[in-house]
Amino acid sequence: MSFIKKTTAELSANPFETIGKDWFLLTAGTPEQFNTMTCSWGAMGVIWNDPAVTAYVRTNRHTFGYLEESPLFTISVLPEEYRKVLSYCGSHSGRDVDKVKETGLTPVTLGGAPAFAEARLVFVCEKVYAQMLDENCFVLPETKTAYYSKDPMHKMYIGRIKAVYVNE
Ligand SMILES: Cc1cc2nc3c(=O)[nH]c(=O)nc-3n(C[C@H](O)[C@H](O)[C@H](O)COP(=O)(O)O)c2cc1C
Repeated sequence: MSFIKKTTAELSANPFETIGKDWFLLTAGTPEQFNTMTCSWGAMGVIWNDPAVTAYVRTNRHTFGYLEESPLFTISVLPEEYRKVLSYCGSHSGRDVDKVKETGLTPVTLGGAPAFAEARLVFVCEKVYAQMLDENCFVLPETKTAYYSKDPMHKMYIGRIKAVYVNE
């Protein structure tokens, strides 16, 4: 298998499935030094006339520091057989473990950013806009209570899609 560069118009992915059911690895940093974590919240769409991915990352994630420093981030969507790997990367912190070593994932550089060779789909995104979610802006207070009573707030990152790679 090898990565073929595609346009977003050529994709048939359903974002609700890809994000919410398949999950993805959000990776930020340089090809030499990066961290990755599992995400199942996010959005794919169009803003400022560009195709974009939005990710939501709580400030206590180790990946958060890398995201803050990196102009780019990648979204790696893995085949179903990597579900255990995704669960691992979503329940262990890069502060404590080397996720690449523990999972056997193969880092690869795509569009100048770190991603994984096992992915079936990779988005290389350039940060355009980043903003903390504001607890005062919840219209539905029960959502704030449900998600932020004990855990820190998410920061929202809107990334312009610079390149899409499909592993075929
Ligand atoms: C299925 C799944 C989805 C997750 N989605 C998110 C998410 O969208 N945003 C987030 O901040 N954390 C999410 N997490 C939690 C992080 O992946 C988890 O805290 C991870 O260990 C952080 O790793 P890090 O400290 O190395 O960055 C999710 C975890 C799982 C298992």
